[in-house]
Amino acid sequence: MSPRATARPPKSKPSARAKADIRVKDGVVTRASSKAKRKAKKKDKKKDKKKDKAKKRKKKPEKRKFTAKTADRHELYQLSVQSPEEDTRFFARVYKSIRKKPAVHLREDFCGTALTCAAWIKRGKANTAEGFDIDPDPVGWGVQHNFAPLGERASRAKIHLKDVREPSDKAPDVRVATNFSYWVFKERAELLEYFRAACDDLKRDGIFVLDIYGGPDALHEVEEERDVEEGFTYVWDQILWHPATGDYKAYIHFRFKDGTTLKRAFRYDWRLWGLTEVRDALLEAGFSKAETYWEGTDEDGESGNGIYRRSTKGENCEAWVTYIVAVK
Ligand SMILES: C[S@@+](CC[C@H](N)C(=O)[O-])C[C@H]1O[C@@H](n2cnc3c(N)ncnc32)[C@H](O)[C@@H]1O
Repeated sequence: MSPRATARPPKSKPSARAKADIRVKDGVVTRASSKAKRKAKKKDKKKDKKKDKAKKRKKKPEKRKFTAKTADRHELYQLSVQSPEEDTRFFARVYKSIRKKPAVHLREDFCGTALTCAAWIKRGKANTAEGFDIDPDPVGWGVQHNFAPLGERASRAKIHLKDVREPSDKAPDVRVATNFSYWVFKERAELLEYFRAACDDLKRDGIFVLDIYGGPDALHEVEEERDVEEGFTYVWDQILWHPATGDYKAYIHFRFKDGTTLKRAFRYDWRLWGLTEVRDALLEAGFSKAETYWEGTDEDGESGNGIYRRSTKGENCEAWVTYIVAVK
């Protein structure tokens, strides 16, 4: 499974605006000069006081004693790089704003533990979901940990151990592919085949939502760390990018407070696709339009605010994650 680049809390690959939290081991780092830093610090102190008050009102996740020997890599992954409530809220909102009615049936491609399907089921009594993944390991884990606690509600979801190019049982209103998982298709013909299958399989007025990560940071062979609120460190380790092919390899490691590390918990062998390439392929596959939604900036002027708005230009920053919404 993969990274997720956004400044929203537990997602992975932090955006440039969240860079203050990132420690980069090798490669290029852009940091403010110490003078600028001191100036910014003073300004931030005032804001911090306000923020601290607000934070106190919010319930913080319980800190647990994670260690490499006992930690569960699927749980760590979900805590580090997935925001199912925020994602499903976005899917519902964007469908409603385009189609003027609520979405009911969601399909999650590359579903892994199918956390998004589970969140969708929880969102509404009428909601139904299908997930597709070829690996029984995360799927089995998800059934046990994400669906069993839902009781009867779990019957509204079906997980298929099948390739994402296979058809759904029921045509979806919203089909999603998150955390850049479609980058597994390295050849354009394969990507196009997948997008065509997705378009054909959607309901007549369905939408397909993908995400994509880019910016100069995406091209560096660097290791980046981010502290996860629950009490461990998530590491996104970009080990290779070949400009001539787009070949892109990365690992996720997890580091714990007791000094232990879960090395190479997940590995990725992808092609780093460009946003314009993906948009072109979506249109060629039959979608009538493919628009991008970009995250706004928080009051602090640095982090993302979790609110995604449509933009035709995007934002030129060092690392970004955006949603692409393709309309049938
Ligand atoms: C990065 S994980 C995605 C997990 C989760 N959906 C998320 O957003 O974080 C990618 C998943 O894609 C699955 N996968 C890779 N190729 C696939 C294919 N052709 N069809 C279905 N699943 C595939 C893998 O088994 C893996 O569980």
